[in-house]
Amino acid sequence: MKDKHFTDTILRWYAENGRDLPWRRTKDPYAIWLSEIILQQTRIAQGPAYWERFMTAFPTVEDLAAAPEDQVMRLWQGLGYYSRARNLHAAAGQIVARGGFPTDLAGIRSLKGVGDYTAAAIASIAFGIPAAVVDGNVYRVLARHYGIATTVGTTAAKKEFGDLAQSLLPDSQPAEFNQGMMDFGALQCTPLSPSCPECPLAGTCDALRTGRVDRLPVKKAPAKVQTRTLTWVYLRCQGETAIRRREAGDIWQGLWEPLSCEEPGQLEGRLTLLRRGVRHQLTHRTIVADFYLLETTEKPVLPEGYRWIPEQELDRYGKPRLFESMLDCL
Ligand code: ADE
Repeated sequence: MKDKHFTDTILRWYAENGRDLPWRRTKDPYAIWLSEIILQQTRIAQGPAYWERFMTAFPTVEDLAAAPEDQVMRLWQGLGYYSRARNLHAAAGQIVARGGFPTDLAGIRSLKGVGDYTAAAIASIAFGIPAAVVDGNVYRVLARHYGIATTVGTTAAKKEFGDLAQSLLPDSQPAEFNQGMMDFGALQCTPLSPSCPECPLAGTCDALRTGRVDRLPVKKAPAKVQTRTLTWVYLRCQGETAIRRREAGDIWQGLWEPLSCEEPGQLEGRLTLLRRGVRHQLTHRTIVADFYLLETTEKPVLPEGYRWIPEQELDRYGKPRLFESMLDCL
């Protein structure tokens, strides 16, 4: 092991301060895989609620594989990035088709939606395989403790930090070390104002010694996010409303939306404004939306792809969170 003091300190810190998370009480690879896919998408705080939802609905990977995609999408609702939910469902099918959860790193890595980070996390936590994880927390802890100024997110950094993390990983406790690194980064070596005076690694931390804690890790300038405008009209007629399923190749693939209107001008005068300029943040864009209501007594002809459904059945459909906000305005 490259640095026994560092490794032992992380292990000791984790034993005393590690978070009590529901999936840490199981060795079921399916349950652990599920937790990691959910955590790709949300903060730890929200994770347990979603994980419990999925584990209750689908206690085994066979249950998940056999579920209709719509049900999976509905449970995923609110987490965003819906391709992850589709990958999750597809990967469950892969696992069942292969006769069970893969038990080695390459097999785990080959599942849909599983990258290097997630494969190492599952392999180490579920099977005790000595594969080091490198997530944002790990980059931060290592960059600071070892004073590494390589820009994270580059190929060079991936190799440098990956090799370093692997060299520090104790073969006997990979699950504890990996989760210790992530929790240490999340709770102790935090992005902003970490509490260095109380840190068990303060004595050996290069960033602390050289006054660079707030300058490490070095990050790329963030990409500029695009803004996209959207006009949604909630049609209401005889207790029904019109929705359609969004198609591949755009945001919210597979989720349902109300009437989307490029030129609300045509309908002007008959529309009631619900809210204007609602801002909604997605990973790569900001949506600015206007919401309208159109109440009619006779059903208008719907554009292609739309269908009428009873308003009470809306909660059976997977919807973007922005559509939920629109319903809150009604
Ligand atoms: N973030 C994602 N997976 C995690 C895990 N297993 N422990 C701590 N933080 C995490």
